[in-house]
Amino acid sequence: MKKMIEVMDLTKTFGTYKAVDNITFEVDSGEIFGLVGPNGAGKTTTIRMLTTLLTPTSGRGLIGGYDIIRQAREVRRLIGYVPQMLSVDGSLTGYENLLLFARLYDVPSSECDGRIREVLSFLGLEDAANSLVKTYSGGMIRKLEIGQAMLHSPRVLFLDEPTVGLDPVARRNVWNHIKSLRETYNTTILVTTHYMDEAESMCNRLAIMHLGRISGIGTPEELKRRTGKDNATLEDAFAYFTGAPMETGGTLRDTLRVRRTARRLG
Ligand SMILES: Nc1ncnc2c1ncn2[C@@H]1O[C@H](COP(=O)(O)OP(=O)(O)O)[C@@H](O)[C@H]1O
Ligand SMILES: [Mg+2]
Repeated sequence: MKKMIEVMDLTKTFGTYKAVDNITFEVDSGEIFGLVGPNGAGKTTTIRMLTTLLTPTSGRGLIGGYDIIRQAREVRRLIGYVPQMLSVDGSLTGYENLLLFARLYDVPSSECDGRIREVLSFLGLEDAANSLVKTYSGGMIRKLEIGQAMLHSPRVLFLDEPTVGLDPVARRNVWNHIKSLRETYNTTILVTTHYMDEAESMCNRLAIMHLGRISGIGTPEELKRRTGKDNATLEDAFAYFTGAPMETGGTLRDTLRVRRTARRLG
């Protein structure tokens, strides 16, 4: 199985604070790999380094064999990125938002319309294509953001907390699309979440992250089994590997984010 993401001793220091502390992991082609941990664990900082947006302090990262520092341009051609913050413009339609990103990602102009139609149909957003995005629900916005990141058919897709602030139905819907991205296009997916239930049901393998470190890697089943407890949950595994309870985390922050989103779109 071809390795699509290889991370070796990757570290990022802000001042004296190690936001990401010597992490090592690998993701195979076609896997859905989850980085799970509470707010502040270092998930976003890790994604920013792997997407070439932030320079590592030390260590290495390879995407499709290309070095994230020395071959950043090649890496950018292989990846899509759905950031934690809002990446859509509420005053444009869904179609117009996708067209902007198609240009940004250098999709040839003769292919833009076809590609946008394909993405809209994949995400079930055809009927909303010509509506202003400020009229979209949170779940539709998230799907459009996934659409923006898949226009250029990336081999590897990074999604940072794709379901935060969504209701349970919208969360399941977004996850179903992430799964079918992998099934339809064999896209390798690295996703972060602090929802343990989602991580468990949606990811092939997980890395448990806490205070910048990865303390356990494996399938959800393996991680639970290694606690030695009968009927262990993934929360139990988190506590076992980190020595800290997994707080649900981020409620206030999530609320603020959702409100900010509403204000910016409104
Ligand atoms: N640009 C920055 N400058 C200083 N500290 C930062 C910066 N970005 C992140 N941090 C800190 O690094 C830690 C990890 O943050 P982050 O990667 O956003 O975690 P997560 O995404 O898991 O919530 C946090 O303590 C955060 O405050
Ligand atoms: Mg984050």
